[in-house]
Amino acid sequence: MSKLSLNFSSLMAVAMLLTLGACSSSSSSAPVDLSPEASAGREVSISAGCASCHGADGNGNVGPNWIGLADSQVTLSDGTVVTADDDYLYTSIKEPGAMKRRGASGIMPSNKLTDDEIASIIVYIRALK
Ligand code: HEC
Repeated sequence: MSKLSLNFSSLMAVAMLLTLGACSSSSSSAPVDLSPEASAGREVSISAGCASCHGADGNGNVGPNWIGLADSQVTLSDGTVVTADDDYLYTSIKEPGAMKRRGASGIMPSNKLTDDEIASIIVYIRALK
């Protein structure tokens, strides 16, 4: 029950953030030059609701910043230091909470992205240097 209501309230928060985001972003073009593949990943991150927490340009908000994330060293909540390689990014997206970043502001809701969509978002995250 508590898990259910938590998920529901995060969904509501996402829905509200999406509505707010829709009003303020008049253009869908990224401020930085992205390859067509990275742009496609950005579009997926926006349509899947990731951008409401990670920013329309990956600059972070409720969720961690994606800029410079790829291949950086991440300290997990148990103190383990890992490299944010493709495996880390894939697992972070596929199983939110499996590897919790130390100091993370909250929890990430699960999603129904396909492996192709996740791969596309990883290309985008990699482009955010
Ligand atoms: C409700 C807010 C929220 C939404 C929506 C969300 N995330 Fe997150 N995300 C978080 C938080 C908070 C963390 C940090 C928690 C953790 O490390 O377990 C996180 C962690 C991550 C990480 C690891 C980042 C790091 O610095 O270690 C990746 C990658 C990620 N999210 C991708 C996504 C993708 C892709 C989507 C869309 C399918 C998404 N997130 C949707 C809040 C969100």
